[in-house]
Amino acid sequence: MEAKLRTGLWAALAMLASAPAAAADEVRYSTHIRPIFEQKCAPCHGGDAPELGEFNRDKERYQKIPQGPKMDTHAHLVHFTGWPDTGALMRRLDDGKGKKDGKPGNMHQYLGADDAERRANLALFRAWVGNWTLKRLPELTKEELAAIRVKY
Ligand code: HEC
Repeated sequence: MEAKLRTGLWAALAMLASAPAAAADEVRYSTHIRPIFEQKCAPCHGGDAPELGEFNRDKERYQKIPQGPKMDTHAHLVHFTGWPDTGALMRRLDDGKGKKDGKPGNMHQYLGADDAERRANLALFRAWVGNWTLKRLPELTKEELAAIRVKY
């Protein structure tokens, strides 16, 4: 009886530990975003990838590799959310459903192997960013910028 109870308790704990993020403010880079990034984005935006400034100097060559700008740390990735590359991550990963042309961003495809995986991973990115806006500066207001969360 006691053994059974203990097994049940462990099973419940294991489920809790592996449960995907529920509340938006619990979504963090360190727990949710980094694992997705490492699996889906690091092949082209990882440690070997150039800094954005370097990438911009020699775009054509890097695109052929293919390699995009380096985004493999929290600080690097945040750069593509709020400032200075405002909204870049959101525009590239968006599914296009809220847009008139319905066109997803060109990095959306890498979010998962199928629709369900892409949807789940996009939901995590959206919750992590908080204010999921496709706007650029200066259209983005100070309040909208401040609503971008991107917790470590
Ligand atoms: C097969 C390689 C590849 C994969 C995988 C990939 N990317 Fe990219 N990414 C690129 C290249 C090349 C560029 C630059 C060309 C362009 O702008 O489309 C780019 C550009 C970007 C940009 C725009 C950067 C800028 O110039 O402001 C963002 C943001 C981005 N990727 C995010 C991601 C995220 C997040 C993932 C994972 C879900 C991902 N990418 C997966 C190759 C890749």
